[in-house]
Order: sequence, then structure tokens, then C-alpha cells
Amino acid sequence: MTKVLYPGSFDPIHLGHVDVIEQASRLFGHVVIAILHNPEKHGGVFTVEQRIHLINGALADGPCAGKYSVKAFPGLAVDAAKAADVDFIVKGLRNSGDFEIEQQMAHTNLAVAGVPTVYLPCSPERSSVSSRFVREIAQYGGDPSSMVPSNVTAALKEIFS
Ligand code: PNS
Repeated sequence: MTKVLYPGSFDPIHLGHVDVIEQASRLFGHVVIAILHNPEKHGGVFTVEQRIHLINGALADGPCAGKYSVKAFPGLAVDAAKAADVDFIVKGLRNSGDFEIEQQMAHTNLAVAGVPTVYLPCSPERSSVSSRFVREIAQYGGDPSSMVPSNVTAALKEIFS
């Protein structure tokens, strides 16, 4: 069985993530969703425990039920990949900006630890969804419901209303 790691901050999970996880769970046997620290992002809206809860709430009854697990890992994505014993890392690509960043990370992760990366294109209707925009829209009283699963919309409303 092919097992893959899908790393990210997931603060919070959005429909672009769901799209990539569903694609990966169709293509591969098992997707380990890894919550990692992004050194460029400080603070955060949701705690790691809340992020895990929101991910499970978004996926548990969907098409990838039984084909994923979710866990937080300290440190590097390659160490998470080794700890989770996966075959490779999966990343979603929205646009050429993502490609530039992800290509650097993929080359580095391969060079330092021999862990390969596979890219999956996100579906066109998800190409502008980002956790940052979701957080900003919710913080300023906007409606993020077209970008996130319904349990995430409810959790954001609870925090920012
Ligand atoms: O959802 P994000 O914030 O775009 O995900 C970025 C993330 C968490 C996958 C990335 O920052 C990461 O891999 N962090 C772990 C630290 C690491 O492995 N750094 C070296 C990257 S080459």
C-alpha cells in the first residue's frame, strides 16, 4: 500500500486542502495529514488540537473516510515523513507561485533526507483559496463559507462573532 504525507499548517483546513486530500486518497492507499510548524507564520487562530478536530470534522464522513489519518509532528517535514513511514510527500499546487516555493522545498527535502515529493494540481475553482485569506475574511466579519467546510465556518463564527 502506498502511504503519503500531506504536510501543512491547516490553520484552518480549507476546501483546497480537502480537494488535494480527496485526490491523494483516490490515488494512493493512505494519506497522513501532518500538521507542522511553518516558521514564516506566527501565532495562529486555532490550536493544534482544534486543527485536528476541524480536519476530522471535515473529512470523517466524506469520500476519504478510512483512508487518512491526522497527526501533529514537531520539526521538519522529512522527519515527519520518516516517523510516519510514508513513501513520499504530497503537495497541492494552485499556481506558478506555489510551484516556485514547492520546487525549492521538494529539492531540499530530497537532498537532505532522500524524501521525494509529488505534486497534485488543485481544481480550478479552488485556485485562489488560502488559509490566510480565510482567516482575514473571518477576522473582519466577512463570510468564508465558500472556501471552507461547514464545520470550519461554524468554528470561525464562534471565535470572531
Ligand atoms: O500550509 P503551509 O503553511 O503552506 O505549510 C508549510 C509547511 C508547514 C509544510 C512547511 O513550512 C514545512 O514543511 N514546515 C516544516 C519545517 C521544514 O520541514 N522546513 C524545511 C522545508 S524545506
